[in-house]
Amino acid sequence: MSQPDILSLRREMVDICRRMNSSGINQGTAGNLSVRTPDGFLVTPSSLAYDTMQPDDLVEMDFQGNYTGPRPSSEWRFHRDILRERTDINVVLHCHSIYATTLACHHRTIPSFHYMTGIAGGTTIRCAEYATFGTQALSNNALVALKDRTACLLGQHGQISLGKTLESALWMAIEIETLSRMYVQALTLGEPPVLPDDEMERVIAQMRRMSYGQAPDDEGVNDIARPRVAS
Ligand code: 13P
Repeated sequence: MSQPDILSLRREMVDICRRMNSSGINQGTAGNLSVRTPDGFLVTPSSLAYDTMQPDDLVEMDFQGNYTGPRPSSEWRFHRDILRERTDINVVLHCHSIYATTLACHHRTIPSFHYMTGIAGGTTIRCAEYATFGTQALSNNALVALKDRTACLLGQHGQISLGKTLESALWMAIEIETLSRMYVQALTLGEPPVLPDDEMERVIAQMRRMSYGQAPDDEGVNDIARPRVAS
C-alpha cells in the first residue's frame, strides 16, 4: 500500500469515527475502529476525542500486538482477533449505541422479530457473554457471538459491527441500532412474534442474491459499483 493510500485510509477512518458520533450511535470517547492493512491493521488510539483526532493519531499494529504510535484502543485484542479470524471482512467497528446497549444490558439476543434481523447473516443477532473491557476473555466471547455473523451485541457493554469497507461497517452499526430500537419499542406491547427459521432462510438467501443493503452476499459485490441485472 503506497503512502498516499495509507494517508487516505487514515483520513477516512477519522471521518467514520466522527460520523459514528454525529449519527448518534456513539458518544464521547467510547467505541473504536480498525481497518486491515497489508501488514496488519490500523486502530484508533485509546481515549482520544474523535473531534480532535488526526490521521497521524491512528495506531499501526501487527497481529502479534506490536505497535507504533500512541497507545492503541484498549480493545485492540478483539480488533486483532476478529481481523485475523474473519478474512471475509476488513473493518471492525465497536460503539455504545443506546438501544443495542439497552438490549445488551439484559443479555438479549435479537430474535427474528423483523426480517431485517437477517442483515447480519443469520436468524438472530447474538449477544456475547460479558467480560471486562480490554481483555482476551471479551475478545473470545465476541468471536463466539460473531460466528457466521457480521454483527453482535456485547453483554452489558455495546455492539460490534463488521464490514468489507469502512462505509459498510458504519452502515451495519446504524442498522443494528435501528433494529435494536425497533425491538425495544416492539417489546413495550409484549414479546413480538418471530418469523420462522424457514422464512428467515428465504430472507437471508434473498439478501445474499440481491446484495441487499450491506448484508453478506454471495459474490462480494456490495462494495463495488458495477452493472447488475435487476432481479
Ligand atoms: P478505547 O478508548 O480504549 O478504545 O475504549 C473505548 C471503549 O469503548 C472500550 O470498550
